[in-house]
Amino acid sequence: MSAAVDMDEIKISVATVDDSERLLKFLHVHYYREEPLTVGCEPPEPDAADENFLLSNLPHGTCVMAMHEGRIIGAGVAGPKMPDEADHLFEEAERLAGSKWGCILGLLAIVERDANVFQRYNVNKALHVHAIGVDSSLRGRRIGERIVTALAARGRELGYPVFTSDCTSVYSARMMKRLGFELLNRMPYTDYVDAAGKQLIKPPAPHEFVETYVLRL
Ligand code: ACO
Repeated sequence: MSAAVDMDEIKISVATVDDSERLLKFLHVHYYREEPLTVGCEPPEPDAADENFLLSNLPHGTCVMAMHEGRIIGAGVAGPKMPDEADHLFEEAERLAGSKWGCILGLLAIVERDANVFQRYNVNKALHVHAIGVDSSLRGRRIGERIVTALAARGRELGYPVFTSDCTSVYSARMMKRLGFELLNRMPYTDYVDAAGKQLIKPPAPHEFVETYVLRL
């Protein structure tokens, strides 16, 4: 399947609410099955609250799909965040405690607080990418890079001063570095533990850290 893809024929377009069903279908196969937080805690399937959260970003016009001959081959889901984001994430993690999504939000709250982009960059809003997925038969061809570049361009058009990403995967982290993003924070997965010291999320090798990156737009 991958050999048949003409890289020049890939078009990146802004996704809309009408794309919800096909976008989620794509993310199930090419994002959630490998995304380190999703596979690093039980149950293996993504939480419905996680899926609904991703889809809730569509009305902002901040999500994109990479298309080839009418087929989705990549996607990026981003949305706005405000300076109270870390507090909001801690509250949501507490409200959803005991669920998979609550556990993931707990980690994202810590990295949001520690990256502290609003104070460090003196901004009052940011565009944050929540998910990037590329067709698993087409990895390593810089399609992810094109998706991130399109999201950054969209953020610039919409007046966002910065673009941030919590890279849960070493592959997305490599991509951000190559694109000139600045590393704000690195948290080892072994640091995310419960009151008894038990590690809460255990992504498979080679994913050891969640790294937060920022790009000024
Ligand atoms: N195995 C080994 N290396 C890989 C793989 C893989 N499956 N996928 C990408 N890479 C490497 C590439 O070789 C490249 O490394 P290099 O800079 O040393 O050459 C780097 O990762 C990025 O390659 P790209 O071609 O720019 O990106 P790609 O189009 O392959 O997409 C992505 C990268 C989106 C991370 C893809 O691997 C993917 O969909 N993964 C599953 C979902 C996921 O984990 N998403 C990221 C979570 S973090 C977030 O969403 C914000």
